[in-house]
Amino acid sequence: MADAKADIGVIGMGTMGANLALNIAEKGFKVAVQNRTAEKAFAVKDDNPELADNIFPAESLEDFVKSLKTPRVAIFMVPAGKPVDDEMEKIRPLLEEGDVMVDAGNADFNDTVRRSQAVEGTGLKFIGMGVSGGELGARHGPSIMVGGAKDSYPLIEPVLTKIAAKYKDEPCVAWLGPDGAGHFVKTIHNGIEYADMQMIAEIYGIMRDGLKLEPSKMAEIFRDWNTRELASYLIEITAVNLDEIDPKTDKPMVEVIVDEAGQKGTGRWAVIEAEKLGVGATTLEAAVAARGLSSRRAERADAAKLYDKVEAGQPQFFADEPGLSELESALVTAKIIAYAQGYAAMAAASDENSWNLPLGTIAEIWRAGCIIRSHFLDDIAKAYDKGHTVVNILQSPDFVGRVAKGQSALRRVVAKASLAGIPVPALSAALAYFDDYRRERGTANLIQAQRDLFGAHTFHRFDTDGAVHHKWPAV
Ligand code: 6PG
Repeated sequence: MADAKADIGVIGMGTMGANLALNIAEKGFKVAVQNRTAEKAFAVKDDNPELADNIFPAESLEDFVKSLKTPRVAIFMVPAGKPVDDEMEKIRPLLEEGDVMVDAGNADFNDTVRRSQAVEGTGLKFIGMGVSGGELGARHGPSIMVGGAKDSYPLIEPVLTKIAAKYKDEPCVAWLGPDGAGHFVKTIHNGIEYADMQMIAEIYGIMRDGLKLEPSKMAEIFRDWNTRELASYLIEITAVNLDEIDPKTDKPMVEVIVDEAGQKGTGRWAVIEAEKLGVGATTLEAAVAARGLSSRRAERADAAKLYDKVEAGQPQFFADEPGLSELESALVTAKIIAYAQGYAAMAAASDENSWNLPLGTIAEIWRAGCIIRSHFLDDIAKAYDKGHTVVNILQSPDFVGRVAKGQSALRRVVAKASLAGIPVPALSAALAYFDDYRRERGTANLIQAQRDLFGAHTFHRFDTDGAVHHKWPAV
């Protein structure tokens, strides 16, 4: 087999890289694998004898490159940031015209734009692709958001189409636009993931502190919700999380887990990029901020003592059928608003970067494989599919009725939670955004007046064209 060449190569045999390589091998492609410590690459072959014929571990980067068919495709599955630049620098001298470097990590899309520009005119190609679905997704079918060199996409499309998750036989992969488009979409995916998770956690907070339910009862409710509009991977795993018993203490697992959320930064990127585009993704922002505050546990404990005399009202939540369906409806409505914000950020980025992002296709490739996968995304895909311009999901005829119907449940849940002192930052951000979004006459006129008074920043009047300055009384 010394002459056999690999169809594609993966650099970085961490969990994601190894699982992606195994997925590729399982689909019948020959995959070269390389790792900084070569043993790890050989272990991938040794530990998977049934796929061994399709796995080509390399001793060195040189051997890895030599083992690839031309034009060569090398996928980097290394930590985002400097490791990607380092790998690029090492491999570039070994590659030839037409070869493709693919960064499949969770890159900052700004880095992807820079890397794409760096290879321009060199004959080498760069693709930045977001891969979602965690370890199991990488192994058995992720959702793949591709951006970068469109002319090179046909080289990897056959492999990606085979390894991607399928939604009713349709592969969850697509080329979405040039340079950073794929990684930008993955970043927004993660921002939405944060908002979705935070909203579920807030409802859990109401169930725990307002309804005093046991986790096993909550699991039952989430399982029930998973049969309707909310049906999704995140609701499904929430029920599993809540049902689990800690073998050490026999207590519900969620009760022995410290209430400090980790984050690797992609949710924060989503919020920063949305702000830069002038599209406040406030539910995503609330979710990122809540993770930040969650990790200040000692400080929260001190604050809890300082304010223990503050009277909050009695929780007005009820665990009966109307009470639970109110919670369900509130969560559905807030979720629509969060997705609308994520989509608004993508639409703005698309305009700003001339990416022409196919927003309907994005919903389609998120229907399976990724962390936010759900049937609900099929509704979004259909909204974009109808051919009418979707200015914002909240203006899409498919969603107006749903939001109009669900907003009162969201309003009641946010109001009751506030009165009871139960924090619901993402749910209330969703409600505030909705109310602000649907208000024809806002309050920014006062802000303009203030700006003009202290800084002569000018403002527009309803009855004249152009910016004007008013001579305000001296203060
Ligand atoms: C995915 C996920 C994944 C992400 C984890 C953890 O789409 O598979 O988004 O890429 O790394 O969800 O992210 P945090 O550590 O930031 O929560």
